[in-house]
Amino acid sequence: MLVTNKQILDAADKGGYAVGAFNVNNMEILQAVIAAAEEERSPVIIQTSEGAIKYAGADYLSALVHLAAQKASVPVSLHLDHGTTYETIITCIANGWTSVMIDGSHHPLEENIKVTSEIIKIAHAAGISVEAELGRLGGVEDNISVDEKDARFTDPKEAVRFVEETGVDSLAIAIGTAHGKYKGIPKLDHERLDTIKKLVKIPIVLHGASGVGEDEIIKAVKLGVNKINIDTDVRVAFTEGVQAVFAKNPDEFDPRKICGPARDKMKEVVKAKMRLFGCSGKA
Ligand code: G3H
Ligand code: 13P
Ligand code: ZN
Repeated sequence: MLVTNKQILDAADKGGYAVGAFNVNNMEILQAVIAAAEEERSPVIIQTSEGAIKYAGADYLSALVHLAAQKASVPVSLHLDHGTTYETIITCIANGWTSVMIDGSHHPLEENIKVTSEIIKIAHAAGISVEAELGRLGGVEDNISVDEKDARFTDPKEAVRFVEETGVDSLAIAIGTAHGKYKGIPKLDHERLDTIKKLVKIPIVLHGASGVGEDEIIKAVKLGVNKINIDTDVRVAFTEGVQAVFAKNPDEFDPRKICGPARDKMKEVVKAKMRLFGCSGKA
């Protein structure tokens, strides 16, 4: 069944677990994520970046996810990841997305509040939930200095003001994660997360969670993270699946025999994430 992020995340917040949000760009990734959710009896967030929409088309992605959600016996939401323009957000609302992220994190606080509030007015009127971001995620560099941390990581006082003034449904925060493949070992600022969660009391979102250690994730979930974004780990599973096919048979040319094993590998990765995040069995 198709639901909003708010429905999924408010339940997660109450229940003290996190739900996986997986980036989807094609049919095989979507089928892998949905099959994993069914097998784990987990709610799931399917998210598409602006790049995914450019690659596959909003209409194709929408049709695929609506069909998948209609057939699924677990709650499924369709979320725009890192929306940056009115154009994309309106396209998503018009094409049946049930949640959007407006990423104004590169703006100064006032401007971020302004752009986020404008999107919320439109999205809430359409019954769609909104995620916003405050603070800046790092690159994949090894070490961040203390000064840099304070400049980039989410400021708890700013988070309170941001949530109060915008009325946003969920908030992505910067506490030490980065998008893509890490070069070093990511360490999360759990203390900052704890402070923010106690102050804002809405579902907290963790981006860049691929490659973050299991203990770090478990602690973050305990402290109030309710949505965990995974893209890179699924991309890697896809690629390893394809590479394994060619290692065995370099002459293979049937796309089904290339993408099928990759889909199986992605499903196993997603299932493991669901168990780690605590959303298995929550559907
Ligand atoms: O946070 C970014 C996501 O991993 C999406 O990446 O823009 O390459 O689709 P993408
Ligand atoms: P990773 O690719 O690092 O898993 O990040 C995903 C993400 O945050 C999507 O918004
Ligand atoms: Zn992200």
